[in-house]
Amino acid sequence: MNIEENKEYETFVEKFKPKKTTDDCYTPPEVYEVVLQYVREKCNIEGLKVLRPFYPGGDYESVQYNENCVVIDNPPFSIISQIIRFYNAKGVKYFLFAPHLTLFSTNQDYTAIVTSTDIVYENGAKVKTSFVTNMMGDVKILGDAELRNRLKAIANTNKVNLPTYQYPNNVVTVSRIASIVEKGESIYLMKKDLAFCRQLESQKPHKKALFGSGFLASHTAAKELAVKESTAKELATKKEVLYWELSDTERTIIKQLG
Ligand SMILES: C[S@@+](CC[C@H](N)C(=O)[O-])C[C@H]1O[C@@H](n2cnc3c(N)ncnc32)[C@H](O)[C@@H]1O
Repeated sequence: MNIEENKEYETFVEKFKPKKTTDDCYTPPEVYEVVLQYVREKCNIEGLKVLRPFYPGGDYESVQYNENCVVIDNPPFSIISQIIRFYNAKGVKYFLFAPHLTLFSTNQDYTAIVTSTDIVYENGAKVKTSFVTNMMGDVKILGDAELRNRLKAIANTNKVNLPTYQYPNNVVTVSRIASIVEKGESIYLMKKDLAFCRQLESQKPHKKALFGSGFLASHTAAKELAVKESTAKELATKKEVLYWELSDTERTIIKQLG
């Protein structure tokens, strides 16, 4: 295959790959059900028609809204500020999925419901999600552990429950080295200290093996690994802290609140 043909083939294959942008994250029905049930409990939506105006090729601005409807949906996150502005201006009731990290980014009148839940959408993308609504009156921020737990419970049910393998200190797997390197630590282990190993004797009766194979390590190498692992652990918990001051103007604003 020449370069041109190769490019063409890649474009062809690309078309069939599920898109992973947040705008293409379709909501698993069980996640939607939890959110809908939560809205029923927390907001007064009895008798209201629930609308989901966000879908491929949709145009949420041209939908006929009235006081007897409520929008409960997962919108394209890239235009969520303008969606909130549109619904607030038209007086349309809404409860929307929202990007967690930029939840406070738009200075508009809505309640931010912080759940910080990792939702796995239908395209496989894992997106930290929170919510926004105009049905919670004077509440500006609601950190809701109850909703978070309900959503997390779904994630746990959907997870394949693989056992975690715990190996003796003298066994080296690639993921063990990776966990050191990923925390910014480097490590050298010498050939003379390692013996290739596919499977521990204790794994044979269970027909299990070291995933991706590994090595038996000398006590010297095992000690070196343990030291690096504990340094890596320390590095992972140590974070640089930057302290920001309040200005006189900000202090004056704060005095006037409440
Ligand atoms: C995050 S997805 C969620 C889809 C669906 N609401 C769900 O909960 O699974 C957002 C959808 O909104 C669509 N969309 C983008 N712009 C839109 C617009 N102006 N009006 C309505 N839908 C739009 C996107 O094509 C995408 O299908």
